[in-house]
Formats: sequence, structure tokens, C-alpha cells
Amino acid sequence: MRTSPETIDLLLKRRSLVAMNLVPPGPDSEELETILRCAIRVPDHKGIFPWRIQIADKETKDKLHARLPDLHQGDPASLEKTNAKEPKEAPLLLIVSSQTTSTKAPRSEQILSGATVCQNILIASAALGYRSQWLTEWFAYNDGVKDLLGVPRSEEIIGFIYIGSENQPPKERPRPQLEEIVSKLQLD
Ligand SMILES: Cc1cc2nc3c(=O)[nH]c(=O)nc-3n(C[C@H](O)[C@H](O)[C@H](O)COP(=O)(O)O)c2cc1C
Repeated sequence: MRTSPETIDLLLKRRSLVAMNLVPPGPDSEELETILRCAIRVPDHKGIFPWRIQIADKETKDKLHARLPDLHQGDPASLEKTNAKEPKEAPLLLIVSSQTTSTKAPRSEQILSGATVCQNILIASAALGYRSQWLTEWFAYNDGVKDLLGVPRSEEIIGFIYIGSENQPPKERPRPQLEEIVSKLQLD
């Protein structure tokens, strides 16, 4: 297989941009299809495709966000906090949810596979020159939001992924040193 130093460079440098800083333009339809094709090319134990992706253009994303406050059940301060961070200008939202009806693989693995869908969306978006952020906030865990999106309450909303261009570049954030989290396994 041929090598791809550009991919390594992308993975070493990719950063999320807070969704409220995402602005147009977003991916065009061809780029979106590329992102989606990359998204579904992920490890998936037993080949059961245990995830679904919903596309919300800006208009639909705005409608969704307008309905969220009525569905919020926590304390008003936490709602205000989320509202303040609303990705108002973000041109595209992809919602990844689980579809864990199969018993062929453990449920946890099916949800993990969905997480890799999300990560591929972030990487493919970056490779096309866009910024993105994976959010869950309170709304990924809310039954009313699941009802609105047609996601069964028994399933998980794995990620709301906002995609667009940057209005300012993200600053690097601290990363752990490899030795803090990686160790050599030694067995007697
Ligand atoms: C499953 C998951 C859920 C997340 N949910 C939120 C969230 O609700 N709000 C938030 O500010 N960041 C959230 N993040 C973190 C951001 O998406 C992102 O990881 C962080 O801003 C820095 O990422 P980077 O290392 O890609 O730059 C979440 C991350 C993951 C993996």
C-alpha cells in the first residue's frame, strides 16, 4: 500500500474549532458525499452498520436549535450556557446515532463503531479544508430530542457534528506526553 505522509500530517495537526466559531462556506454536495463515504468506512464488528447519519443544512439546524429550549429539562443556567454557545453560523450539521438492533456484536462495540464514524467525519472534513466540532451537550441525551429526530429512545445520539469554515484559527490545546499514557506491557 502506498504511503501518505499528508494523512499523517493531518492527523498530527487536526484540531476542532468551537462550533460557535464555524462560519460558511461549508462543504458543497460533492464534498459532503465524500465526507459521508469516508464516514461509513469504519471498523464495524460483524458488518452490521450499527449507525445512522442525519444531514441538517443550516435552515434545518436553525429549526432544530430553535426547538431545543422547549425540550430542555435541566436547570435554566445550564440551558443558558448552551444557548450562549449556539453554532449560529455553522452551515452544516451531521447527527450520528446508533442503530444497535443487532445482537451479533456487543452493544458497546456498535456504539464505539459509531464513534469512529464521528471521528472519520472530523478527519474527512479537515482533509477537505473545513473545521468541525463534535458536540453532545445535553441534547444528545434528551428523549424529546430523540423523538424529534426519530431516533428510538433505546438508541444513542453519538454526536452532533458541526462543520464549516473558520472565522478564526483554533489555538493548540494541551496534549498528554506519550509516556503519560503509553506504557510497554511486560509479562513474566
Ligand atoms: C463524545 C464527545 C462529546 C463531546 N461533547 C462536547 C460538548 O458537548 N461540548 C464541548 O464543548 N465539547 C465536547 N466535546 C469535545 C470537542 O468535540 C473537542 O474534542 C474539543 O473541543 C477538542 O478537540 P480536538 O482535540 O479535536 O481539537 C466532545 C468530545 C467527544 C469525543
